[in-house]
Amino acid sequence: MIRQLTILAVSLLMMVSCGGTSDNGKTKLVFKHGKIAGQSEYLTRLVEQFEAEYPGIDVIEEVLPSITDQQRQFYITSLEGGSSDFDVMSLDVIWIPEFAQAGWLEDLSGKFTEEEVSRFFPGPLKADTYNGKLYAVPWYVDGGMLYYRKDLLKRYNLSPPETFDELVSCVRTVLKGENNDKLAGFLWQGKQYEGLVCAALEFIEGNCAHVLDENGNPVIDSENAIEAMRFMRHLIETGIAPEYVTTTDEEATRHSFGNGNAIFMRNWPYAYNIFNAEGSKIKGKVGVKIMPHFEGCESASTLGGWQLGINKHSEHKKAAWQFINFMSRYESQKYLALNIGLKPSRQDLYNDEDIAREQPFITELYDVLMHAVPRPVSPYYSRISLVLQSKFSAILSGTKTAETALKEARREIEQILPESS
Ligand code: GLC
Repeated sequence: MIRQLTILAVSLLMMVSCGGTSDNGKTKLVFKHGKIAGQSEYLTRLVEQFEAEYPGIDVIEEVLPSITDQQRQFYITSLEGGSSDFDVMSLDVIWIPEFAQAGWLEDLSGKFTEEEVSRFFPGPLKADTYNGKLYAVPWYVDGGMLYYRKDLLKRYNLSPPETFDELVSCVRTVLKGENNDKLAGFLWQGKQYEGLVCAALEFIEGNCAHVLDENGNPVIDSENAIEAMRFMRHLIETGIAPEYVTTTDEEATRHSFGNGNAIFMRNWPYAYNIFNAEGSKIKGKVGVKIMPHFEGCESASTLGGWQLGINKHSEHKKAAWQFINFMSRYESQKYLALNIGLKPSRQDLYNDEDIAREQPFITELYDVLMHAVPRPVSPYYSRISLVLQSKFSAILSGTKTAETALKEARREIEQILPESS
């Protein structure tokens, strides 16, 4: 009897530690997501609303670092090992083809009707589809944009820049007038990681250049791409961007700009609400617009954003889908938009009256997000990105010329891509 009890106790323990059932008999669903900047407690409240609606499910939120590269590292290691320790994952828009090809994601095709699917933005939907199957549901959308200090531009009678040349001239005027050592001109994410690729692509695409052409062949060493990257380095050499921009990620630039220490910054939309929150040093002083472009080309905003997917090895796929369905539905996205400022992946929320009234900035973003430029949608993207990260970083730090680095990048990307692509 005692032995039987022990066996029972051990097996119960195992069930709990395998992400099975909680000791209260409920299904224990583990939801992994990256750290959300701003008032993330509202996400937890939404999770609690789910639990109230589904009393048989307990959700355990497990938070990963905010940097996308670190999150990917975690997933790669766990999923390669066949881990079933987590059920629902928040996934960067660039990972889906790679994770789907590796067999790590549950196929979600057919879970939504076609009509329901068409309500989401087409860019993320395309990125979430691999070989005609849907592997994740768009959760919230990102697009790179230019933040500027309205008060500083006004002080010198300047209008927000349309082109990169205009931005340079605005920075020169303001820096000269302010004569403040702490004030930087233009910040972007310049450290060697995914964020650098996103920022640099806005310069490259904004100069009519691309990583791959329409047939999928690398063209990253085109004259225009070289010119764009040379220009980024030139901004550092001439003090328009500070030297430290080669070490910054989203949060580092957000903190500098938020402390009043920069005139311009490239970042994702998440920073806007934080800058305008009570107690912010720059509340009411921040303007936002689409990124500048080079003469004769158009502005480009890199498409970013996060998706919800199910771990193929999850033991709770039904509950996992109920959770994703709940988290991605209209009311949930509205709640996250109103309270944290996350940008909805459902297009009709950009016509929602409450959002238009309380978060007009979100409504205004529709066009930027609709036309945001995706990074190459390919199972090889992560490897392509690693090449770009190292070459772009070498250019910004001045260890390689743009021409040399981008020629190397093209050759290395050619090696990564299979013959037929
Ligand atoms: C943001 C974007 C994501 C991108 C990352 C780069 O989180 O949503 O798509 O890869 O920034 O740092």
